[in-house]
Amino acid sequence: MATKKKIRLKKKFKKRLKRLFLLLVISLLCVFGGMKIYENVKYRNTEEYKFIEKGYEPSTFKLITEKCSDEHKAFLLNEDKIDYIKYILGDKYYIDKNFEAYLEFYESNSKYTFEDVIALVNVGATKPWYEGVKTTDTMDKYAVLVNKFHVLPEAYEVGTIKTFSSTYAYGTVKAEETCYNAFIEMAKSAKEDDITLILTSGYRTRESQTSIYDDMKNSKGADYADQYAARPGSSEHETGLALDILTYNAYTETFKTTKAYEWLHAHAHEFGFIERYEEGKEYLTGYSAESWHYRYIGVDLAKKVKEEGITYDEYYAFYMASQ
Ligand code: DAL
Ligand code: ZN
Repeated sequence: MATKKKIRLKKKFKKRLKRLFLLLVISLLCVFGGMKIYENVKYRNTEEYKFIEKGYEPSTFKLITEKCSDEHKAFLLNEDKIDYIKYILGDKYYIDKNFEAYLEFYESNSKYTFEDVIALVNVGATKPWYEGVKTTDTMDKYAVLVNKFHVLPEAYEVGTIKTFSSTYAYGTVKAEETCYNAFIEMAKSAKEDDITLILTSGYRTRESQTSIYDDMKNSKGADYADQYAARPGSSEHETGLALDILTYNAYTETFKTTKAYEWLHAHAHEFGFIERYEEGKEYLTGYSAESWHYRYIGVDLAKKVKEEGITYDEYYAFYMASQ
């Protein structure tokens, strides 16, 4: 009798244990399930979910996260999906403050490549030349940007100006002293390679730039003059940091085909000079190519610009003005 009772009790205990176990399993499932639902709700509230739901690829979402301000993220979430945004954001030279300008320009000029859209907006060349000009920042003397949108202040201080001897120049050519010394060093180095560099123009006062521009304008018209000469106040020559370099038996038209040009192309940056108006970049610089016009910006900067392979206008917009 006692054994039967014991067996019944044992069975009852086992049954309870089973129920308890089942209850535990169900509770655990509920907890995990709840957690999953919570995570899901939480994820649906994330930016990532919202962008992916809108149709953006994870890689585009990554670009948006890395490059856009909150304001631009909100804009992208509120607007219809912009299919080409990955190309804009993916460009190395994207500057977030130009976000709206890139979209606006691309929407009405879709024939441009995205690279060009970025470059044109960055340098300000989506506007007519000389529209909305600013007085340029002259804090960093050798890095100063002078172009059709950045003009020199009336009271620009050129510093010490030196005149080259006839060994280096045709006629009277002057330059700011650091630029002057750098050119002499460069010309000596070129000479060791049997290359003669000869200067035809250097520092110009505002008056002399005015007469160069006006003479050209009067003889050939304003459109022509604007292609080849800077308007007063916007010439690099007025800083004393620009030099026009030729060689024996070469004119501006033929300089690009000379060994001297080849030498400068390979070495000018080592002495702090960059070719300023390159072929193919007219739409960014505003000038017809000038293989003879070199600008002194200092050795470190010149090496970086050369390495980057972009115009100084683009380099400045991305690395200097936007920082
Ligand atoms: N020829 C260059 C652009 C100047 O006038 O400064
Ligand atoms: Zn020049």
